[in-house]
Amino acid sequence: MNDTVTSERWRRAQASEQQYWDGLDVAELLRICAEKPAFLKHLDAATLAALFDDREVLEIGCGPLGVGLASFYPGKAAIRRFVKVEPLPRIAVSATGAAREPWAAPLVDWVAGLADEGEYVQMPGEALDFEARFDTVVTYNVLDHVQAPGGILAGAYRALRPGGRILVGVDCLSVVGRLRFEHLTRRCLAGTILVEAHPHTFLPDHVLAMMATAGFAGLSCRGLPGRLRRVAGSGFRPAFLGEKR
Ligand SMILES: C[S@@+](CC[C@H](N)C(=O)[O-])C[C@H]1O[C@@H](n2cnc3c(N)ncnc32)[C@H](O)[C@@H]1O
Repeated sequence: MNDTVTSERWRRAQASEQQYWDGLDVAELLRICAEKPAFLKHLDAATLAALFDDREVLEIGCGPLGVGLASFYPGKAAIRRFVKVEPLPRIAVSATGAAREPWAAPLVDWVAGLADEGEYVQMPGEALDFEARFDTVVTYNVLDHVQAPGGILAGAYRALRPGGRILVGVDCLSVVGRLRFEHLTRRCLAGTILVEAHPHTFLPDHVLAMMATAGFAGLSCRGLPGRLRRVAGSGFRPAFLGEKR
């Protein structure tokens, strides 16, 4: 599968992405916060500890607010270092639409605190130049938005020390859902954020194959729905795990 799109296609995706973040209201801020601890429930306590406790963690594509998935790990105080990479310029939580609602001030302050955790580095994941510097790489809801998903995973592999782990959360479609998206939705809903912001769509096997190509071993996937939904149902976001051996 050739997984790279042109830089012009990626720039369009990022323009759409920027519009989304610029329009962020209270409901959307709540939604993107709530989905992260729900996603972490795919992983048991031992797996979470192996990913985060006493680890140097790199998160690729944290979003311009700088609110990473790792900030929703209950034991996050044990994370040794947290670096967040994101191509869009940083947006202060206090500059979002949510912050214009005085009644939501406690929510905005809490999210601003999460956004200040770790270090924010503005660059696309494909340009990562870390060599064996991290124990864990996280990329959550990102791979279907990038220019070259395989390039992101290759950079993640290089950034990890031997024995390091990757956690990938990415939207996957059913076989029927993906055919519909690629052949119908892309044409019928061209110009919408749904189409523009998603240069790629995946089945779970595509994600596993890309991780293997990048060099990851010991691959596993948590949170897959049943067979019927994987063939013809609605989308889902499993957790993929791999190791650099
Ligand atoms: C749907 S958002 C998810 C953001 C965040 N992970 C979250 O769940 O709230 C997708 C993110 O991927 C980022 N992204 C797009 N292309 C990227 C790239 N080449 N490298 C790293 N991140 C990228 C976008 O800028 C955007 O912030």
